[in-house]
Amino acid sequence: MNYIRSRLGLKLFLSYLAVLLVGVSVIWVTTKITAPRAYARHLAFMEQQMGTSQGQGQGQGQGQGQQGQGRGMMADFYENFQASFNEALMIAVLAATVVAVLVSWLLTRNIVSPVNAMMSASQRIAAGHYDERVEAIGSDELAQLAMRFNQMALQLEEVENKRRQLIGDVTHELRTPLTSIKGYMEGLVDGVLPATPETYDQIHNEASRLARLVDDLQELSRVEANAFSLDIHPTDLSTLVGTILKRLTPQATKKRITLRSNLPANLQHVLADEDRITQVLTNLAANALQYTPEDGSVTISAIQKDDEVIVSIKDSGIGIPPEHLANLFTRFYRVDKSRSRNTGGGSGIGLTIARHLVEAHGGRIWVESEGDGKGSTFLFSLKVKK
Ligand SMILES: Nc1ncnc2c1ncn2[C@@H]1O[C@H](COP(=O)(O)OP(=O)(O)OP(=O)(O)O)[C@@H](O)[C@H]1O
Ligand SMILES: [Mg+2]
Repeated sequence: MNYIRSRLGLKLFLSYLAVLLVGVSVIWVTTKITAPRAYARHLAFMEQQMGTSQGQGQGQGQGQGQQGQGRGMMADFYENFQASFNEALMIAVLAATVVAVLVSWLLTRNIVSPVNAMMSASQRIAAGHYDERVEAIGSDELAQLAMRFNQMALQLEEVENKRRQLIGDVTHELRTPLTSIKGYMEGLVDGVLPATPETYDQIHNEASRLARLVDDLQELSRVEANAFSLDIHPTDLSTLVGTILKRLTPQATKKRITLRSNLPANLQHVLADEDRITQVLTNLAANALQYTPEDGSVTISAIQKDDEVIVSIKDSGIGIPPEHLANLFTRFYRVDKSRSRNTGGGSGIGLTIARHLVEAHGGRIWVESEGDGKGSTFLFSLKVKK
């Protein structure tokens, strides 16, 4: 019994057979009950017809004798009829049973084989083969189930790929400063590197880079998992931009970069979480300063368009080639890894964090640049207070 319970195909097949059994029984019982009655009725009608035609032409006594003989014949006739009827019924039932069993088996196979295919595919996926898919034939519920199954498998595959890529990227990012620190230490131990303040400074820089990377990664995982809450209220952008300018002016002065803002006096308040938007502005303005050579300029502006304020951070820096524009907000993406490292660049997380934060506000973030050496403008939108 347990064997039957655990087999969908067998259960379907047995249920088809049960339906067949009930059908055959009903046919059998009905014909057994109705056939003699129908026969008797038709016989009586025939006898009546024969009686009338004979009574018209012959005498009474002769007529009665022939009637008795006729009844005997009719009884024999009925027995023969019943035997042939039973034989025909039996053959019909047998033929119907064979055909029905065959059809039931085919139907069962049609239903069970996609289910079996999904079962083995899910087992393979569970074993780590995320590229496994099933065939979805037709448009019935089973085909839809197969399609959903494939969608689920595709999503699992994407998540797994992202996870692998993330681990690879993080490992790579951590390895670079660690290798540097190790190299400096070995140089010091072997006496190849002089134990000067510069050497210790280099080691300190690499350690700081490592610490910043770990902080950035922590922040990234928080924003990517949406594990942060926004405290949104009407915010005056001019105040936020003022804070950013004050904070970044020393850095700008060091590179003789003109850092200024250009905000309209009557700018409406935007709906924002002050801390988070400050973080977005900081990331974008710090990039602008970082990727702009000495004597350049960086301008933070804002304009109102319908129910949105568009904030832009424009620099006269190194610019971005068009083929990189679409990927810039992807984590760990850097236009030129070696260039970014040489210019003291980071790990390619800042823009990803900014994108998540802006999108959490219901805004958009994008970049415009005419290409190498032609400067860049980063823009994002925020809703205004109605
Ligand atoms: N203003 C800019 N001008 C030119 N290139 C830029 C500018 N801002 C960003 N980029 C390019 O986009 C890449 C990604 O920027 P992002 O801020 O995400 O990372 P990062 O600055 O390299 O490191 P960090 O995570 O420390 O910010 C940078 O490496 C750089 O190549
Ligand atoms: Mg950055």
